[in-house]
Amino acid sequence: MTTIGKQMYHLDCVDSTNNFTAKLINDQICQNGAVILADEQTAGKGQMGNTWESERGSNLLCSIAWQPDNLSVNEQSKISWMVCLVLHKLLLRFGIEAEIKWPNDIYVHNQKIAGILIENQLEGKCISWVIAGIGLNVNQQSFHQANATSMKNVLGVNLQVKTVLKELMDLFNGYLHQWDVVQPTLKSELESILFQKNIRSIYRDKEGEFEGEILGIQDDGRLIIEVGKEQRVYAMKEVQFC
Ligand code: BTN
Repeated sequence: MTTIGKQMYHLDCVDSTNNFTAKLINDQICQNGAVILADEQTAGKGQMGNTWESERGSNLLCSIAWQPDNLSVNEQSKISWMVCLVLHKLLLRFGIEAEIKWPNDIYVHNQKIAGILIENQLEGKCISWVIAGIGLNVNQQSFHQANATSMKNVLGVNLQVKTVLKELMDLFNGYLHQWDVVQPTLKSELESILFQKNIRSIYRDKEGEFEGEILGIQDDGRLIIEVGKEQRVYAMKEVQFC
């Protein structure tokens, strides 16, 4: 059974915890369930080739690596749903109600509080390693990006990053130890906390802006938006929130 946190690295400064973890895996010295935590990243990676900026020592910057049992590439979305749900529950433990902005951004009051970058390694059609990179804004108070927030900004108090990490690992273990039981309900659980679900809003695809309503997520992870009487289905990068 995978237990998150048996092996832990606490790095002062690294390019990216995801890159560091990938190197551990390639060097065959990464244990199943390893946690790599950094105080600072010099080249933190975000989704879609973006960078992830974080004030030194203020936030949770970590990668969690594990080897799923028999999980096919077609089921990759389940990992992303699980990590989103873990972060949602983590924030709830601190009294913060968050929403998931598809595909895997964590939002509080229309502001991004955490981001997830999942980089899987494959062996044939199976996922041999998951690297779940998590950036959660804990104590940082001002951001270059206009719509970012932190636990400190929401709660008004400083938190120990290590305390937050402990809760995160506990939630990960809860999901992974109960994987067979929880995995059939991950998608519906996620849909229940999906940002702008069933709310008419403006989106943009390659044809331009349009008004639509998010209905939910397909099993393959794509987003379903109702536009008039039509249902459109989007993969990542194919649609933007306006
Ligand atoms: C996003 O763009 O929303 C994803 C951000 C993910 C950032 C985290 S910080 C720890 C880990 N290491 C990285 O280089 N990126 C992820």
